Amino acid sequence: MLPTSPTKSSPVKLYDFHPPVADFRSAVLRGLRQPQKVLSPQFLYDKRGSELFDAICQLPEYYLTRTEMQILRNNAGAIATALNHRVLVELGSGSSQKIRILLGAASQVTTYVGVDISRQHLQEACAALMADFEGLEAIAVCADYTQPLPIAAISELHNRPTIGFFPGSSIGNLEPAEVIAFLKTVAVLGDLIVGVDLKKSAAILEPAYDDAQGVSAAFALNVLVRINRELGANFDLSQFEYRACYNETAGRIEMAIASLCDQTVRLGDVEISFKAGETLRTEHSYKYTVEEFQLLAMEAGFQPVQVWMDDQQLFSLHHLKQM
Ligand code: AVJ
Repeated sequence: MLPTSPTKSSPVKLYDFHPPVADFRSAVLRGLRQPQKVLSPQFLYDKRGSELFDAICQLPEYYLTRTEMQILRNNAGAIATALNHRVLVELGSGSSQKIRILLGAASQVTTYVGVDISRQHLQEACAALMADFEGLEAIAVCADYTQPLPIAAISELHNRPTIGFFPGSSIGNLEPAEVIAFLKTVAVLGDLIVGVDLKKSAAILEPAYDDAQGVSAAFALNVLVRINRELGANFDLSQFEYRACYNETAGRIEMAIASLCDQTVRLGDVEISFKAGETLRTEHSYKYTVEEFQLLAMEAGFQPVQVWMDDQQLFSLHHLKQM
């Protein structure tokens, strides 16, 4: 595949692998027909959902984003040393603020590759980085990073050491078995720097996922608004409520939408029934101890090199290398 060369209107070189858009209707119907109704977290991020998620990241209760940023700032020198002269490949480049902390500290990094499914957002982010960091080449790769990366087709990645950056504890949405499979997939990048939220008391975790202002609730319930709009459904939002519970045994926050009564919802010509109290799962958000995550990484063939944390040990940033 030939990349789009930089032009006057866009200074960013783009590799567009045209990731297939998941068929929203069939995926939603499949999920709603399971005994435990479930929706994939990826469907939470339409335009409104992305705005609400940004608002979550600013909440006083949601410690993850600001803590990870603080870890990046406090250890920028050591992390920059770990990056060395490698090509920095960010998986899901929604976190422009985080990469800026790294690039600000790591002047020896000359090539940044952003991988994201949203082409427009990605190109704009790469252009802004090139404008703000002199001498930096920012390459946009429009692809689904959960699928094997077509690195053979990306000339900037040929015969050059690379390091992957996967912040935000996005890995927490995966089941532990999926984490191992995912890490094996991204092992082509060599080393990895990955953000992982740590186990802690339910008293801290639950408000982070069910805040006083109701932003977390609005974020989850927005998926019903999206289904109503895009699939011609008639979810009555006043008959559902959001719940977030920490399942300590499983080590995860379980987020769901509960039906407040027996009811039947229509999606076009399909009918789906809910019992009173029945839940529709929207997300799992796994929490790990440092040791638990290192064990998973080793099962995937990585060697833990270093872990950076905040003073309160709320969040961790792992440097993993290929065994
Ligand atoms: C984007 C998966 C890291 O689990 O903390 C936050 C998603 N959902 N509040 C998380 C989320 C509700 C978030 N991740």
